[in-house]
Amino acid sequence: MSNTTFTMIKPDATAKGYTGAILDQIIKAGFTIKAMKWTKLTKEQAGAFYEVHKERPFYGELVDFMSSGQIVAAILEKDNAVADFRTLIGSTNPAEAAEGTIRKQFAASIGENAVHGSDSDENAQIEGNFFFSRLERF
Ligand code: CMP
Repeated sequence: MSNTTFTMIKPDATAKGYTGAILDQIIKAGFTIKAMKWTKLTKEQAGAFYEVHKERPFYGELVDFMSSGQIVAAILEKDNAVADFRTLIGSTNPAEAAEGTIRKQFAASIGENAVHGSDSDENAQIEGNFFFSRLERF
């Protein structure tokens, strides 16, 4: 089991000024930030990041949204990072997210759902490598 996961704070949450509050919850939940950057994806970059969802009906909407504003990308470290982070953020659809989770507090809809969290150790590595070079980690 790997001890890192990858997250993005999405354009809806950065635009609403939730970045600090979300990072605060992540840190208080015991995650260490190993790498972090504040950036904006082009449509091409968002399309490449979410390539696994290319055949899904919401792919175009997802790519438009994820390239619509600033994001914060980060690699997080903790024991059992992937599963624990998914518990912290809650269900993809905020309407189904548990009380106290980040999506319950900050997400507006299934599309604009405030944060991303890797769904497996393998994807955590792939997604972290998409944003960060070896020089940008420690
Ligand atoms: P994320 O965890 O970043 O990974 C894939 C994203 O696709 C997901 O969060 C949602 O934001 C988005 N998504 C999933 N299902 C839908 C849907 N039915 N409509 C729009 N977006 C969706």
